[in-house]
Amino acid sequence: MNRDACTAFAPASVGNVAVGFDILGFAVDAIGDRVTVTRSREPGVHITGASGVVRDLPKEPNRNTAGRALEALVDLVRPDFGFAVHIEKGIPLGSGLGGSAASAVGAVVAANALLPEALPRLELLLCAMQGEAVASGSRHVDNIAACLFGGLVLTVGIDQPRVKQIPVPVGMCAVIVHPHMSLSTRDARAILKRDVDLSAFVWQTANLAGFISGCYTNDLELIREGLNDVVIEPQRQDLIPGFAAVRRAALAAGALGCSISGAGPTVFAWALREAATAVRAGMVAAFQNCGMDSDHWTVPLPSDGARIVNA
Ligand code: HSE
Repeated sequence: MNRDACTAFAPASVGNVAVGFDILGFAVDAIGDRVTVTRSREPGVHITGASGVVRDLPKEPNRNTAGRALEALVDLVRPDFGFAVHIEKGIPLGSGLGGSAASAVGAVVAANALLPEALPRLELLLCAMQGEAVASGSRHVDNIAACLFGGLVLTVGIDQPRVKQIPVPVGMCAVIVHPHMSLSTRDARAILKRDVDLSAFVWQTANLAGFISGCYTNDLELIREGLNDVVIEPQRQDLIPGFAAVRRAALAAGALGCSISGAGPTVFAWALREAATAVRAGMVAAFQNCGMDSDHWTVPLPSDGARIVNA
């Protein structure tokens, strides 16, 4: 095929999904990054620029999430050409919507389409994880896997990850509300205690198991009970002004659950289609009462993953 350039759209994603810290995520394709990768005669990876909602991204490939992910791909494939990369950011940085993951995933998906022999998605996942590590200091995979594969995704393992797309009951929507502030994922990880209380551990594993079983069996009550994070959310919620009121408003309006998206400050809720409008309005109003304007979206689940958009 030997195209010279390719553009990939990589969606935003919600990490953790309340109870799956670092292992569960879902894609939100209402917003995303567009990454264009062009073959260059010069070997290696070159960041040519960034546009959109973030323009001052590092130009050194090993400090840039897309650049680092592509360096990992180059190390793996050793192509006889280089990659020039332009990133059009649709996802604000520090939003908790998987912005760094999307740039890394978009870059490897676009570059993959330029290779004489395309790599399987699991190899792309491993490359993109290297990019994520640049942003947050850790190779967590929840955002990367959801962005790359689409839908609600469970990833087990890091060096040899196993990815499972989990079914979602028909009619389920995600409401996403991004208050106008930013949080550093690195900082929001640094505040977490290293140890987990035994009773919290039991509740969290019960909730995770219940949530996943509820998704497989269409059991909305199990999903409702499962979407309760008793370990991470209590430690992070004070970083988000108004979080408790926003969560209360979502549940009062009929959401099945509401929690922090990734490391925050974005907050997400799951609700059936008929409740989604009221849930969204309640969450937005609760943030407003705390003096916070927000951007907000409702997406039907499952939502698509990264894809080539200029084929
Ligand atoms: N699982 C990560 C965290 C996601 O919560 O720190 C960051 O987007």
